[in-house]
Amino acid sequence: MKNPRTGLPTDPHPVVVNPADGKPVDLGPLVPVLFGFAAFQQLRAASELQLFEYLTLNGPSTCDQVAAGLRLPPKSARKLLLGTTSLGLTEHEEGRYAPSPMLRDAIDGGVWPLIRNIIDFQHRLSYLPAMEYAESLRTGKNEGLKHLPGSGGDLYSRLEQALDLENLFFRGMNSWSELSNPVLLHQVDYAGVRDLLDVGGGDAVNAIALARAHPHLRITVFDLEGATEVARDNVAAAGLEDRISVVAGDMFGDPLPDGFDLVLFAHQFVIWSPEQNRALLKRAHEALRPGGRVAVFNAFADDDGCGPLYTALDNVYFATLPAEESTIYRWSEHEDWLTAAGFADITRVRSDGWTPHGVIEGRKPDA
Ligand SMILES: C[S@@+](CC[C@H](N)C(=O)[O-])C[C@H]1O[C@@H](n2cnc3c(N)ncnc32)[C@H](O)[C@@H]1O
Repeated sequence: MKNPRTGLPTDPHPVVVNPADGKPVDLGPLVPVLFGFAAFQQLRAASELQLFEYLTLNGPSTCDQVAAGLRLPPKSARKLLLGTTSLGLTEHEEGRYAPSPMLRDAIDGGVWPLIRNIIDFQHRLSYLPAMEYAESLRTGKNEGLKHLPGSGGDLYSRLEQALDLENLFFRGMNSWSELSNPVLLHQVDYAGVRDLLDVGGGDAVNAIALARAHPHLRITVFDLEGATEVARDNVAAAGLEDRISVVAGDMFGDPLPDGFDLVLFAHQFVIWSPEQNRALLKRAHEALRPGGRVAVFNAFADDDGCGPLYTALDNVYFATLPAEESTIYRWSEHEDWLTAAGFADITRVRSDGWTPHGVIEGRKPDA
C-alpha cells in the first residue's frame, strides 16, 4: 500500500523521507523501543486489574463484559484490550477477547503467579531507578539507589533497612530463580556431591529446589542476616531443616564454612566487580575439598558483546541498582576468573530456556 500524498509505501512500517537525500527511512523498529515504558505499563495494568484471570475464568469476553467484570469504565477496557491485543498478550476473535496462547500456557502451567511477582519487582523496585541509566553510565555508579530509602552503597544494605522492599525483592528474586533454575537443577551432575555450599543463597529458593531434586544433597545456605531469617522460615516450611542449614555472614568479610564438594554462586557474579568475583572464587577454592567443584549460575552475555537482548535490557537494572560494579558478564570473563583462581576442567552449561541463564563450572585439582 502507498501513501497517496508521498507515493511511498506505508506498510508494514511508517516511513519518513530523509530530507538530506530524499531516501525513505524505515522507523518502524523504533516503535517498541520509543514506547518500551508504555508496553510494560500495558502488561502491569493487565496484571494489577487481573485481566488474564478474568478472561480465564469467564472465557472469551466482549469489551463491555471485561469492563463490567473488572469494574472499569468501558473506555478504559477498550484502551487496555487494544494495548494487550497489539502486544500479543490477548487475542481478539469475533468481538471477544481471550488470553493469547503464551499467556494461556503460563496460566495453565502455573507460571503466571511467578511472572506477576516479577512484574511487581520491575514496577516497584527497578522502574524509577532505571531513569538514572544515562547518569549511571556517565558516573559509573549505581545512581538509581537514590530512589530507595535508607543508607549504604548497595541494594542489599538498603533492603536490610526496608522490610517491605526486602520482601518484594525476595519474592521477585525467588520467581526469577524458579523460572531460570532448571539448568542448575537438571543439567549439572550432582552424582559425586554430598555437601554443597550456596553462597549468597538468599531465601534458599535454589537450596530447596536442589534438595528436592537431589535427595542425597546436604546444603548450607550462607547469606547476610536479613536474608537468613527469610531462608530459615522457608526451609522450615519446606520441612528440610535436617538437610539444609543456614549460616549468617558476609561473604567478603567473614570466613566461609569449609569442607564442601560443591560451592554454588547463584545470581551472585552479576553483582560484583571482576576483582571481587576473582576474590570470591579464591575463597570458594579454599572452602572446597580437593577434587571439589565450583558452579556459577546466572545470566550471561555473549562473548562478542552483541547480545542476547534479555541480557542487554536486564543490564539497565544492574547498572542503576545493585552495586557500583554490577553487570552481566560474558562467558569468557567467567572462564578467565576461574582459571586465575586455580580451577581446571572449566565447562559451560547453557540453558535451553527463554532466559540467557547457564552454569559455568570448574574443578579444584586433587591435592
Ligand atoms: C541477587 S540475590 C541472589 C539470591 C539467590 N542466590 C538466588 O539466586 O535467588 C543476591 C544475594 O546475595 C546476598 N548478599 C549480598 N551481599 C552479601 C554479602 N556481602 N555476604 C553474603 N551475602 C550477600 C543478598 O542478601 C542476596 O540474597
